[in-house]
Amino acid sequence: MIVRSPRVLVLIVLLGCVGYAIGSETQTEDDVPTEGDALAGNVEAGEERYNKTCVNCHGAGGKGVASFPKISGNEISFTVSRLETYREGTKIGPNSSLMIMMAKPLSDEEIANLAAYLEEERS
Ligand code: HEC
Repeated sequence: MIVRSPRVLVLIVLLGCVGYAIGSETQTEDDVPTEGDALAGNVEAGEERYNKTCVNCHGAGGKGVASFPKISGNEISFTVSRLETYREGTKIGPNSSLMIMMAKPLSDEEIANLAAYLEEERS
């Protein structure tokens, strides 16, 4: 398209600027944290939740008891991923059904808290 009138040209440039401004505005909205972002766990709340049920199998501080695995000292991302896997009903080891039952009622927040607590509990 050949634009002959300078006024039309100015209009096109202006529209381009408005379009650019709208475009960059939507980009900044993407930086706002959404529900999908990882939660920062609370160690104290995690300890409290741990001592309600988890301690019965995994022992004090998640150090493990008999055939129940030690679960303390692991990276937060490892514990979160294990608990999310069990929660969705996927088996990992031979005794996963026990853990699937335990993980089903956990909220994202409880998982984040438990993972933060268990990482802190190094032996
Ligand atoms: C009834 C006993 C029992 C209870 C209660 C229990 N667990 Fe477990 N947990 C197990 C068993 C058994 C395994 C190994 C499962 C398998 O074979 O996949 C396991 C595995 C895990 C693992 C993965 C360890 C690894 O190295 O792969 C994590 C993490 C874990 N449990 C966290 C928890 C948390 C947090 C709670 C409390 C919400 C909890 N468990 C409650 C028995 C239990």
